[in-house]
Amino acid sequence: MQSATLLSILEMSSIAAACIGSFHLPIHEMTARNSVNPLLTKREVSQPATTNDTHWTVAQNTRQMQVSDDAFIARDLLHFNHHPNVSVYYPGAVVMDLDEHLQDMRLLFSTYSDMAPHNHNYRVLFGEGDWTVALTQLTGTNDGPLPNATGALLSPTMRTVKAGIMTIAHWNGGLIMEEYLWVDTPKMWRQLGLLPSPPAAELPDLELSPYTAPLTTHPDIDPSTINKEKMKQTNEAFNAGKFEPDSMNLSSNITVYGFNDEGLDLQGFLDILSSYKVAFPNLRLENQQTIGQGDWIATISHLSGTHQGSLMLPAYLADGPVAATNKSFNLLHYTISRWQEGEIVAMKVNIDTFGILGALSIPL
Ligand SMILES: *[C@@H]1O[C@H](CO)[C@@H](O)[C@H](O)[C@H]1NC(C)=O
Ligand SMILES: *[C@@H]1O[C@H](CO)[C@@H](O)[C@H](O)[C@H]1NC(C)=O
Ligand SMILES: *[C@@H]1O[C@H](CO)[C@@H](O)[C@H](O)[C@H]1NC(C)=O
Ligand SMILES: *[C@@H]1O[C@H](CO)[C@@H](O)[C@H](O)[C@H]1NC(C)=O
Ligand SMILES: *[C@@H]1O[C@H](CO)[C@@H](O)[C@H](O)[C@H]1NC(C)=O
Ligand SMILES: *[C@@H]1O[C@H](CO)[C@@H](O)[C@H](O)[C@H]1NC(C)=O
Repeated sequence: MQSATLLSILEMSSIAAACIGSFHLPIHEMTARNSVNPLLTKREVSQPATTNDTHWTVAQNTRQMQVSDDAFIARDLLHFNHHPNVSVYYPGAVVMDLDEHLQDMRLLFSTYSDMAPHNHNYRVLFGEGDWTVALTQLTGTNDGPLPNATGALLSPTMRTVKAGIMTIAHWNGGLIMEEYLWVDTPKMWRQLGLLPSPPAAELPDLELSPYTAPLTTHPDIDPSTINKEKMKQTNEAFNAGKFEPDSMNLSSNITVYGFNDEGLDLQGFLDILSSYKVAFPNLRLENQQTIGQGDWIATISHLSGTHQGSLMLPAYLADGPVAATNKSFNLLHYTISRWQEGEIVAMKVNIDTFGILGALSIPL
């Protein structure tokens, strides 16, 4: 598999499943990737025959999301609610069609026979228009063959994984047309013993709270239109390198999940943004989709940068700072945030860590 090209992965779904399956990212396949990312373009087969979408309500679509995960848990892939021409966007710039995605799910079950997302209830679930956003924990016992970074099958570890999973879906008549998946793979690898420093059993994460059930503290008004506008300003400030609470609309009380195990406070978040700006002076977010409901906003973006300065990584990924590789990445990137009075009070940043390391050829 060392020599397989990116396109050959798409063409040979069984090989794609063997290498990519179960959210075990094929690091060796990413090393050649640069900022171009040919896979982040839709394939022709991914288009529906008609542009006429059948619109369901947000409540119907969020319910359908739950039903789809029920089918996943029941291993009932016939009722998975995916459109025949669905495009499934995985971490690592991998796009699968329905056959590839179903194969990947089967491979996932062979590695973790009891793998299931906790969808009753999700930690966060909301939507807008034809879009839904679901964030929760995925748990499973690794009781089957486990592909490592080179695709070699390791014997079952019998260890349990529990990590965040996000599904952002674009619906048409009760079926998913586009699915954006993110899984906290580094955390799973630490739990499996493939990376050092296993995380604590229970870690805080973004979740429903008295503030979010209902989805807004102001049910009389829907603040999401103005929050979406502010989110745009937040991204502009990010791109301009203005890592300041006012420019980025960050609450002094903010907690940001996704960079470390415990969550970062305001200063910790600003510090880490500054350190990434040193590593990637041209760091840039290109927003593709913003989804807002109540106090909640989710974004689908492409994050890109060229590694021109020292990069600090968590200790389980690197022993020390990684010197500039001069390589670039351009990968899907997601945020989910909760807003109060025009400021972000809690945020989850879903980074494609392994995809970035692969694009920069930084070995694990
Ligand atoms: C899927 O896409 C193909 C090619 O564009 C098209 O012929 C087919 O009708 C589509 N299927 C559905 C169910 O939309
Ligand atoms: C969309 O639906 C309308 C009404 O059913 C139909 O007249 C039109 O041809 C459809 N458009 C496409 C692109 O299929
Ligand atoms: C993957 O497993 C194979 C077989 O045990 C081993 O030779 C190889 O070094 C492993 N690769 C990584 C990156 O862990
Ligand atoms: C949000 O950001 C905009 C643009 O920088 C700024 O004008 C505004 O004051 C900020 N709002 C809050 C509540 O921080
Ligand atoms: C900070 O957040 C905590 C819990 O999320 C809340 O109880 C407290 O009132 C907040 N403080 C401010 C100044 O917003
Ligand atoms: C990256 O570019 C800098 C400046 O041009 C150069 O000094 C350095 O050797 C390059 N590093 C690599 C790994 O190519």
